[in-house]
Amino acid sequence: MCGIIARIGDGDAITKLVTGLQNLEYRGYDSAGVAIQNGAGISVYKQSGQISELKDTIVGNVPKGNVGIGHTRWSTHGPPTDENAHPHTSETDKVAVVHNGIIENYAELKTWLKEQGHEFTSDTDTEVIPHLFEQYLESAPSIEEAFRMTIRDLKGSYAVAALVDGDHAIYAARQGSPLILGLDNDEYYLASDVPAFLDHTDKVVYFEDGDIAVLEPNGVTMTNLDGDRVTRDVEQIDWNPEDAGKGGYDHYMLKEIHEQPNALANTIEGRVKDGEVKLEDFPKGTFSGIDDVHLVACGTSYHAALYGRHLLNEAGIRAQAFRASEYVGSIPGPVTKNTLVIAVTQSGETADTLGALRQAQEQGARAITVTNVMGSTAARRADDALFIRAGPEIGVAATKTFSSQAVTLSLLAIRLAEDIETAKPPEDKTSLLQSLDRLPDNVEQVLASTDANRIASQYSGSQSFFFIGRGLNNAVAKEGALKFKEITYEHAEGFASGELKHGPLALVTPETPVFALFNGNNDEKTLKNAEEAQARGAPIVAIANENHAAMNVADSFLTIPETHPVWSGLLANVQVQLVSYYAAYDLGRPIDKPRNLAKSVTVE
Ligand code: AGP
Repeated sequence: MCGIIARIGDGDAITKLVTGLQNLEYRGYDSAGVAIQNGAGISVYKQSGQISELKDTIVGNVPKGNVGIGHTRWSTHGPPTDENAHPHTSETDKVAVVHNGIIENYAELKTWLKEQGHEFTSDTDTEVIPHLFEQYLESAPSIEEAFRMTIRDLKGSYAVAALVDGDHAIYAARQGSPLILGLDNDEYYLASDVPAFLDHTDKVVYFEDGDIAVLEPNGVTMTNLDGDRVTRDVEQIDWNPEDAGKGGYDHYMLKEIHEQPNALANTIEGRVKDGEVKLEDFPKGTFSGIDDVHLVACGTSYHAALYGRHLLNEAGIRAQAFRASEYVGSIPGPVTKNTLVIAVTQSGETADTLGALRQAQEQGARAITVTNVMGSTAARRADDALFIRAGPEIGVAATKTFSSQAVTLSLLAIRLAEDIETAKPPEDKTSLLQSLDRLPDNVEQVLASTDANRIASQYSGSQSFFFIGRGLNNAVAKEGALKFKEITYEHAEGFASGELKHGPLALVTPETPVFALFNGNNDEKTLKNAEEAQARGAPIVAIANENHAAMNVADSFLTIPETHPVWSGLLANVQVQLVSYYAAYDLGRPIDKPRNLAKSVTVE
């Protein structure tokens, strides 16, 4: 977790560092800090709280200097205090370090460093890095070598950037946590994610694990842990700075909900031709021989995986979806080269999902990832990557990426069904793909006509919020509840409609609105389940087509346009996203940065 940034080049670094940190704040917002090299020592400003608060502190005393590092933290080791905020410094303040990741052997390093006379001022694992660096500076032949010796001692995951007093350079290393180099004409950046420097450059180099870099005003040198030079390709990012801004919306989440028509159009573009599914790196025959599919994912991505699993099963393909954190150590049955593991992850950096991916690969499975982020760890570790092309998502609550993931997995399910002998592609493939073509417009219709704001106010103050759906809509119900609880902090649960009567019905009262999702598959059963809740006093909010039978039963409605049942849940999901958003808005919650959470969770 956490976001790091570093910058070297002409002119003062501070503004670019702070703006970059603001663009990374979705990665953590417990504390923030910067360190600037200014020829008169390293100035460090750090404190608990959000970046806006750090900015207020700096305003009266803006540090000068063209080289700097910065950090925004999601606490793992130690509470979010000023002392635990990064950058961390060494004994004599000669070294300052920012770090994203976990140093697993920090306790033994700390013991050794204390024996050498180092005194620690924080509870963090990170603080061992500046002390080690300073220790090795005494004996190493060069600063670069001292840094390399430091990095060699670390076990765990890290993206690190460091400054040394009096030395006009930034030292950086990566192992298991994202680190990207941004190249502008007269300046260089390092960051955990591209939006940190996208205002300045779209030319990037993705660090590989084991890479070490030294950034100087006139160039960047990349080597490995042995000191051998390595060469990495420069890639061009096709996001633009506006994609990463709020674009006039109050919150990133609302902007990203409204971006769904565009995101979906990008997801689909070029992937359906002449009534056939064409996936760039997966031509016909790619998946022949596959006899088992494991989808591994967390949170919202897991719900998209449930969507994909349902469609694979309907096509007669043996497929299971696993919460990635549970997959490791409990893989069902043997994994072979005929097992396809699909790691579904927006960020491509989720530690639990990467762990599941690695486990499956070690056991010989073929592994692909469905991800949003080019150059992410998942994209590079998997055998192949299928990109959902939703564009940058900054709000901690995933919205547009869920719809793009579900659509990508639906197309992948068709591709698999065509390759696997025992499977059968959907009989109504033509109408399915034609309605997919209309999906971006259908989402636009929902956004233009939604009554979600009114519904959110109508039920505000309720005790609990339940979401029910069947089949594909079971996945959407679970996603709806996750979204609702994540940003409103109110209790919400998503259930398979038929499951309500097996226990959860005991919770139902007039204070527990039930959002019932209908998509044309077994709707009469879901309607009955909703009526069972209504008979116990629960208000029912039906999400269905305008003329649906549920409209005669429900207490309130949110309508969605007619479409194929496979896509209907994605329209219902937009309504649920909006209800969650407005409910959180009315409660005054910090919607883009819900408490205790961060966008990308890089710890297990
Ligand atoms: C969703 O709103 C969440 N913030 C969270 O559940 C997220 O989906 C999960 O952490 C997985 O992230 P990933 O898709 O980047 O792997």
